[in-house]
Amino acid sequence: MCGIVGYVGEKQAQDVVIEGLRRLEYRGYDSAGVALVADGALATEKRAGKLANLEKAIADRPLPPATTGIGHTRWATHGAPNDPNAHPHAGAGRRVALVHNGIIENFAELRSELETAGHHLLSETDTEVAAHLLELEVDSGADLTQAMLAVVGRLEGAFTLVAVDAQDPSRVVAARRNSPLVVGIGEGENFLGSDVSAFIEHTREALELGQDQVVTITRDGVSVVGFDGTPAVGRRYHVDWDLSAAEKDGHDWFMRKEIYEQPRAVADSLLGRRTPDGHLHLDEMRLSDQELRDVDKIIIIACGTSFYAGMVAKYALEHWTRVPVEVELASEFRYRDPILDYSTLVVAISQSGETADTLQAIRHARTQRSKVLAICNTNGSTIPRESDAVIYTHAGPEIGVASTKGFLTQLVACYLLALYLAQVKGTRYGDEIDQVMGQLEEMPRHIEQVLAADQAVYELAREHVDTRSVLFLGRHAGYPVALEGALKLKELAYIHAEGFAAGELKHGPIALVEGGLPVFCVVPPQGRDQLRDKMVSGIQEVRARGARTICLVEEGDDAITPYADVVIRLPKVPVLLQPLVAVVPLQLFACELATVMGHDVDQPRNLAKSVTVE
Ligand code: G6P
Repeated sequence: MCGIVGYVGEKQAQDVVIEGLRRLEYRGYDSAGVALVADGALATEKRAGKLANLEKAIADRPLPPATTGIGHTRWATHGAPNDPNAHPHAGAGRRVALVHNGIIENFAELRSELETAGHHLLSETDTEVAAHLLELEVDSGADLTQAMLAVVGRLEGAFTLVAVDAQDPSRVVAARRNSPLVVGIGEGENFLGSDVSAFIEHTREALELGQDQVVTITRDGVSVVGFDGTPAVGRRYHVDWDLSAAEKDGHDWFMRKEIYEQPRAVADSLLGRRTPDGHLHLDEMRLSDQELRDVDKIIIIACGTSFYAGMVAKYALEHWTRVPVEVELASEFRYRDPILDYSTLVVAISQSGETADTLQAIRHARTQRSKVLAICNTNGSTIPRESDAVIYTHAGPEIGVASTKGFLTQLVACYLLALYLAQVKGTRYGDEIDQVMGQLEEMPRHIEQVLAADQAVYELAREHVDTRSVLFLGRHAGYPVALEGALKLKELAYIHAEGFAAGELKHGPIALVEGGLPVFCVVPPQGRDQLRDKMVSGIQEVRARGARTICLVEEGDDAITPYADVVIRLPKVPVLLQPLVAVVPLQLFACELATVMGHDVDQPRNLAKSVTVE
């Protein structure tokens, strides 16, 4: 939510900052802006709308050369997404420029204090208040770092602030509280970014920051202090993906590229998980076997697509470990006063590792002495940093706002966690665990097979360009798949789409069925015949009322054919693993339908990839 870039070095700051914003645009795209320090003055430009609008404005009215600068791409919270509210914001004398991600909760009182003192604010944002306060500090003789330390003491809420001072081109200063920020370490240049994609083109060396820290970057160094002024050290790490991972690679959308990357992402997420003697081994698992054996309840918390991964995880965890599992939306978790203690394991699933609702939920869990295990795709992000254990998903950077490979790799991590717990608790024999691991290792090949049939799904999507409503039905592990299929259509095609547990159909949703309504049906594999047969009844019920049934069915299951208007074949896989293949045609369908409808698939309206405000 909001992308932030800062640069100081030898290159043209404008180029570095704009390129960084392009890579961060998925975080928010309501407006964009830059501020450069050139010849003792600020040079700024900002525009409502996508980054392209800013680039055009700069092409029409070039900014002066400069080697120090900051930039911002916005997902609006306070104030409409227009030019005046776009960041950067400047202080009263246009000496300091500042960009911000987060919400300053006490901004109203700070604003009235400033206005009483004669300040005239140009925007409706909470950010501009911080710019004015910062400028007051530098005007009274503080350097930008000292000024930032003084200002953060007055702010409440969550924020990343990045600022420059027109009279000090040597530094860019940032502050971080509950909002993401990483440092990129170069030679003769240094970077700040909301995530590493902001600077991956220039360096793969990064520094993770803690909460409540102020960082100062100059050409030659990086220094970090806590909000109380005491020196601090961040954790340095190497980013193990390169620029090509952040490019579209010939695809029209990042999302499409990411869908086709799924076989590799799943394979990578399984790598190195078995010891030579066949035991499962999760190297980021910092919980002892005894702590895991003590676990008598698991609560999974997540948002959006990650929540649906958690719903699948419940089936696997309960089946393999016999430990009861609750799955809860992170935004609801804290407010119901959940029953937690030291024997509760809280599993937080987050692709970005920055989702504010999930972060607040794990903090609450830890205050109740529960252990927290994060499933996350982003090294250096806040959620794994604040957890007791982490399973990284190794999907590589996910840039399309709608999650795809993030979801599949989360499923893999959930299966691994379930099997690992089963191993430690002894609820499954070693050979059973081995067998499932073998089946998981086959999944990349099965996903390839589903992707090979992409053209038929694309054709189907093109037939639905005028459709205004679509239903999705599933049972058991196919139920979250139905929910995820519907979410993808809402996010990308902006049409009414709902997922249901097929058994619930006759308790209400069936009233929505009318002639020609497309209904996707995720049919459980054969072998789970009770499940599958009940699903078939559901399909017959909607079809009898005129629905157009699009059935995702495993190969060889021909019992369904008489009731299916369209059949999409899935490879034969175990029921618990079926989500890994069943969701793929639904991703392809949503991606293609949104494309033919003329929507921006990578940056759907009103959404942001990383939601860092509650
Ligand atoms: C946003 C994104 C979704 C994502 C959700 C949770 O809403 O648009 O695609 O599923 O956040 O994000 P997380 O990074 O915590 O998995």
